[in-house]
Amino acid sequence: MKKITPPLPLLGGISAEQFLNEYWHKKPLLIRQAIPDFKPLLSKDELFALSGRDDVESRLISFFNKHWEMKNGPQQHLPVKQKQDWTLLVQGVNLHDDAANALLRQFRFIPDSRLDDLMISYAEDGGGVGPHFDSYDVFLLQAHGQRKWRIGAQKDLTLVEGMPLKILSKFKAEQEFILEPGDMLYLPPKYAHDGVAVGECMTYSIGFRAPSYQELGESFLHFMSESIDLPGRYADPELKPSTKPAEISNEMVDDISAEIAKIRFTDDDILIFLGEHLTEPKPNVFFSGPEKPLAPKRFHQAAIKNGLKLSNKSQMLYKGKHVFINGESFAVNREDKISLNKLANERRLDGADLAAVSADVLEAFCLWYEDGWLEIC
Ligand code: SIN
Ligand code: CO
Repeated sequence: MKKITPPLPLLGGISAEQFLNEYWHKKPLLIRQAIPDFKPLLSKDELFALSGRDDVESRLISFFNKHWEMKNGPQQHLPVKQKQDWTLLVQGVNLHDDAANALLRQFRFIPDSRLDDLMISYAEDGGGVGPHFDSYDVFLLQAHGQRKWRIGAQKDLTLVEGMPLKILSKFKAEQEFILEPGDMLYLPPKYAHDGVAVGECMTYSIGFRAPSYQELGESFLHFMSESIDLPGRYADPELKPSTKPAEISNEMVDDISAEIAKIRFTDDDILIFLGEHLTEPKPNVFFSGPEKPLAPKRFHQAAIKNGLKLSNKSQMLYKGKHVFINGESFAVNREDKISLNKLANERRLDGADLAAVSADVLEAFCLWYEDGWLEIC
C-alpha cells in the first residue's frame, strides 16, 4: 500500500511527498510563515564569536567601493563600523548549537546522506553576496529582519571572470519577494538568485550535499588502494636484447594491463566506500570527549539510566548489515542492527534499548563516548 506522508507546516501545508514530486530540483517554492513567530537561534554577537573560531568555517564578503572581496575565517575583525555592504557567512552552525541542530533535523524528510548543514548569514542594510547560483538545493529561512530576494530561471549562468566569488554576469530577475522572519524560500540547484538585506538581517540556509562524480571516483580509487590485492611481481624470463633501450615494450604493457584488469570491486565495496565517505567528518570538525570520562562500568550504568545521544557532530548512516559512523564502518549482527539503526535514525537510544545490545557494541559505545561521538543524555 502506498504510504501517505502528512502535510508539513514547514512546507506550507503540503506533504514531503508532494514537495519532492513538484518542487525538489524543479522549481522554487515560497512558504510564508513556514515557522510562525520564528526568532533567531543565535544573537549576532554569538554568531560573530563563532566566526572567530578556527573550528568554524566562515567567509566575510564585502563590496566596498564596488569591489567584491572574500576573506575566509577565522575572522579577526568584522567591519562593523563601516555598517554597509558586507555579509558574514558562518557554515555548519548546527555542529555547535543544539537549537540550530534541531532546526536542521526538521528537514530530515530528505535523507541524512543528502542533508549538509545550516549556514547563517548576517548583513547590514544593502548587504548580500551578489547575484549567483548554487550547485545544490537550498532552503533560505529568514530569521531576523527582512531580505529582498530576486530570482530567475535563466539558462545563461556565465560568471564574471576574476572574482573571488561566483557573480552572474547577466542576472535577470523574474520574481521578487521580501521575506519576513519565519518565511522560507526553496530554490533548486542552479537557480539564479540575489538576496539583499533590508535593514539588519539574518538568513539561515539549509543546504544539501551532492558530491561530484569526479570527487567520488577519486575518493573511491583511494579507498580501493587500501584493499586491492595483486600478488606477484613483474618478470620477463623471455626477455630479448634491446635495440631501443628507451622504449617500453609491448610485452610489458600487455602484462601489466592484464594484471591491472584483475582489480575487481563489488557492490559491497562501493557501499562501504560510500558510507565511510559520507560520514567522514569535514576537515574542521574536531570532537572533544568529556574531560573526565566515566569508567566503562559507570558509563554503562549512566547510559542505561539516562540513555545516549549522538553528538551534533557525529554522522551515522547504515545499509543492510553495515553501519557507518564518522568515516568508520563495521558489520553487525541482526540484534545489534536493530539498536544501531535506531540510534542512527533517532540519533538517540533510551536506556531500555541498551539492554538489547551486545557486549561488543556496548564497548564500542564507551569508546565513542570517550571520543565525543556519543553523549550521555
Ligand atoms: C545569504 O544568506 O546571504 C546568501 C545565501 C545564498 O544566496 O545562498
Ligand atoms: Co545562494
